[in-house]
Amino acid sequence: MVAKNVSSLPGPPEEVLIIYGGQPLRGTVRVSGAKNAALPLMAASILFDKPFVVHNVPDLGDVKTMMELLRVLGIRAEKNNTILTLVPGNNGAAEAPYELVKKMRASILVLGPLTARRGTAVVALPGGCSIGTRPVDLHIKGLQALGATISLEKGNIIARARRLKGAHIVLDFATVTGTENLVMAAVLAEGETVIENAAREPEVVELCEFLRACGAIIEGIGTDILHIKGVNTLSPPSEWHLMPDRIEAGTLLVAGALAGEPLRVEGLVPEHLSAVLDKLRTAGVELELGDKTITVWRSSQPRPASIKTAPYPGFPTDMQAQFAVLLSLADGESIIHETIFENRFQYVPELVRMGAQIDVEGTTAFIKGVKRLTGAPVTATDLRASASLVLAGLVAEGESVIYEVGHLDRGYEKLENKLQSVGARIERKIKSE
Ligand code: EPZ
Repeated sequence: MVAKNVSSLPGPPEEVLIIYGGQPLRGTVRVSGAKNAALPLMAASILFDKPFVVHNVPDLGDVKTMMELLRVLGIRAEKNNTILTLVPGNNGAAEAPYELVKKMRASILVLGPLTARRGTAVVALPGGCSIGTRPVDLHIKGLQALGATISLEKGNIIARARRLKGAHIVLDFATVTGTENLVMAAVLAEGETVIENAAREPEVVELCEFLRACGAIIEGIGTDILHIKGVNTLSPPSEWHLMPDRIEAGTLLVAGALAGEPLRVEGLVPEHLSAVLDKLRTAGVELELGDKTITVWRSSQPRPASIKTAPYPGFPTDMQAQFAVLLSLADGESIIHETIFENRFQYVPELVRMGAQIDVEGTTAFIKGVKRLTGAPVTATDLRASASLVLAGLVAEGESVIYEVGHLDRGYEKLENKLQSVGARIERKIKSE
């Protein structure tokens, strides 16, 4: 008796993406607001008493989770399309519960502002996630340097400080959310804070510029040394327009490099993408830059490239999974060396199911270009891996079915609608078996 194929056994209904590859992408897609700029700006609402409105906020799972968390902390968050209104209040708990933190590690971003504004913070210690252990030791060390007493109790980080005091902090690693947490703590601390080896990502710059507009005193924005003079109170501008998402933009550019005839990506900031544009050109992709748009033509035979991820302005770790799809079709051998996270190649076995030839040794992927990919059922494992499977489905011959699309929805706003609008045959379905 041959055992029934397990995958054909009826399971709970779940959303999948079904893609029929090989369609050219022609037309214009618009980039949404930046997820990783929205989240720290939302956390910063803890620092104020006055309401403010943020425009161009994407409709994403992570934004919804942060709204939920702010409500628990006593801050009303209402979203109408891409307009987010935040009405601070101090009558909420000062606790970020595990249920929300485990849904979204970026919840750690409330630790700094809560400690600075309310003098106490209880934030569940984020566990690891699929791409790595993701410790937050540098966040904690920095807050201790600013005078907070920190204890770890029952899985919670408990931070206390009557008033934080400026300090000279040298970060072992240019951690993005670590820098953001410490900036949000230091702006209300007494005296001056210096943060050396600060992250310089555009999302960190956006947070610092927003805080400056709230009355914070921050010098060195965009460099790896930030000088902050603490103030007593901050008050937000009534409105703020969020920067575009450079990783979504990069993802759409790779879609164009795979199938654009041509694809025009608008509402982006080319300067935020220099490292990605450089590697697209190395791979032989034809690009035409406008001041807020980039037009990209599919490359019939991409050239191989070697990529090493690094903190900004280096090649972003959030773009290497997407790039691996393009390099899988190059005429030669490529290398991707991941230096930020320890486990960011989980998309590789899924691409191999589609015919890619990729070997991973430690934190390096060795890619041997193949002529074509073929559609297959595949499973997403994390946010950017899910994007790479969508890209592979667009260019593979035949049908692909992508499971666990919840990962995609955390970081991409209606990606399938954007791709459908320029010719992709992609649809979201409920699959019951
Ligand atoms: C931010 O994560 C982004 N998330 C990530 O995007 C992005 O991949 C990452 O920066 C790198 O660019 C948000 O901005 C919300 P890190 P973050 O702290 O801040 C080590 C996505 O896809 N580290 O810069 O968590 C850590 O282990 C997400 O949108 C410590 O050792 O990244 C990792 O190896 C995924 N101790 C490295 O630094 C610490 O205290 C990068 O971490 C903090 C970090």
